[in-house]
Amino acid sequence: MNVLHVIANPRPIEKSASKQLATSFFAKLLETNPDVVVNNIDLYQEPPPYLSLDAYNRLNTPLLNPDYTPSKAEEHAITYAKAQAEGLRQADVLVLTMPMWTGGPPAIMKAWFDQVMQPGLMFNIESGVVIPLHQLSKVILLVSSGQVYKEGDERDGITPIIRNIFSFIGVTDIEVAWADGQSPHFFTDGESRKQSALEMAEELAEELSESP
Ligand SMILES: Cc1cc2nc3c(=O)[nH]c(=O)nc-3n(C[C@H](O)[C@H](O)[C@H](O)COP(=O)(O)O)c2cc1C
Repeated sequence: MNVLHVIANPRPIEKSASKQLATSFFAKLLETNPDVVVNNIDLYQEPPPYLSLDAYNRLNTPLLNPDYTPSKAEEHAITYAKAQAEGLRQADVLVLTMPMWTGGPPAIMKAWFDQVMQPGLMFNIESGVVIPLHQLSKVILLVSSGQVYKEGDERDGITPIIRNIFSFIGVTDIEVAWADGQSPHFFTDGESRKQSALEMAEELAEELSESP
């Protein structure tokens, strides 16, 4: 099993609840399934560019114009997107580690989605039908937040966008371990909430190891 782990959090692990979830998850996964191959991408080590007009044109125009010939600048503009999408296309499972920032994923995470979730990279569109170009079967979210969120909470700007992005390319199996209530300004039980999420992360790893 090939797992791609994308990390969108600049904080050191000893301070970061979401990174601690990732540590528990991968420790359990590798303990229960030593054959798993994990590729880590730390977005703060190799930041995605914002999608430019040249990249937009190169990725979207071929679909609309069979005679399209990209310029050198357009071809160059998708170097990052192509490399990242290639890594994602090889993955069976995608793990996303991130905090909630300002209601949703950190901007650097969104910038990565904007690069890789593109026609010709992760999917094609034929006669109005989306044709996936990947082998991804599952997405696992390892998330932390200052406030307390329940599934379906209208303030949750993370899980709906992730479900939306991945259902578009045919991936509906999304699992979540969420350390919420991490703000000591508002909650005194952040540590026990984190412990529950750490246990959830380990359970998700065990389930993944047992899956065919
Ligand atoms: C820029 C910024 C924006 C934040 N916005 C939210 C928010 O909208 N909702 C929330 O619950 N927590 C918010 N927080 C709090 C973080 O989600 C919380 O501290 C979390 O534990 C950080 O994750 P980490 O421990 O993995 O770094 C925000 C924190 C920062 C730095």
